[in-house]
Amino acid sequence: MIHAPDLQQIVTEIADEMRRRSDRGEVATYIPELARADPAKFGIAVIDAQGRVAMGGDAEEPFSIQSISKVFTLTLALGRVGDRLWRKVGREPSGSAFNSIVQLEYEMGVPRNPFINAGAIAVTDTILSGHKPREALGDILRFMHFVADDTAIVIDETVAASESRTGFRNAALANYMKAFGVLDNPVDYTLGVYFHHCAIAMSCRQLAMAGRFLAHQGKNPSTGFTVVPAERARRINAIMLMCGHYDGSGEFAYRVGLPGKSGVGGGILAIAPDKASIAVWSPGLDDTGNSHLGRIALEALTQRMGWSVFGA
Ligand code: DON
Repeated sequence: MIHAPDLQQIVTEIADEMRRRSDRGEVATYIPELARADPAKFGIAVIDAQGRVAMGGDAEEPFSIQSISKVFTLTLALGRVGDRLWRKVGREPSGSAFNSIVQLEYEMGVPRNPFINAGAIAVTDTILSGHKPREALGDILRFMHFVADDTAIVIDETVAASESRTGFRNAALANYMKAFGVLDNPVDYTLGVYFHHCAIAMSCRQLAMAGRFLAHQGKNPSTGFTVVPAERARRINAIMLMCGHYDGSGEFAYRVGLPGKSGVGGGILAIAPDKASIAVWSPGLDDTGNSHLGRIALEALTQRMGWSVFGA
């Protein structure tokens, strides 16, 4: 008799393997508060279609989700303005770093996609329009509570303040877009909301919960709530696959084979459509700014479970 692979056993094995590895990448330091993260941490949480939760390592410890928040702000902005969003931001892979300035100049202030910093700032600007910064931020946080079915999720104000003090590159990108009329709101307001949503702290378990609607045609199977129509979930997954790891997106698709979104806090949210929502966390990054062990752990998981979107 052939047994299905035991998910919890595989997750435990992967957490043990990652704990033993000495190649851990480099913790991000350009946001001073993130430099305090412990590179020895590793967490993984997988929630399958039946709602079973498999966890390993530091899966319950909150970390700074950073750019993973861009998946949720994109979802919120598409809900607000629909396809009009694509007038402000493209949906092509960038092939350059997440904070590239030169590409924005070539392309007349219109960012390549919603996941590079410039694109995410333009998306945040859309959410802000018609609201005060505090209200827009409240909407984003409430949306996180809704998708994760968890009202304990908070913004780490220390991380937000740290990035506000040092985010000169993002200020350059935002000012450049403002000059081209891509941003509608005062640059300081838009950046304030952006820095704060990047500073949301979540554990792997909370993040895997929040991603469930993307794995299950727009609906969270445990709450029964429809977050977005199935077609929109499919398209957000497509953008995650093509753009979720910046100029590391090709390598991530090749090795892991799932839509995924990384953050400089060392987290990755990955979606196995119809199968599972997965979150991993290891603060050390590779040279494309994506979690080094996070990617290796996801590669091991998808190989052992046969979960690639490109076939087993
Ligand atoms: O804007 C920044 O630089 C950070 N708040 C987020 C960047 C990020 O997470 C890139 N991802 N790997």
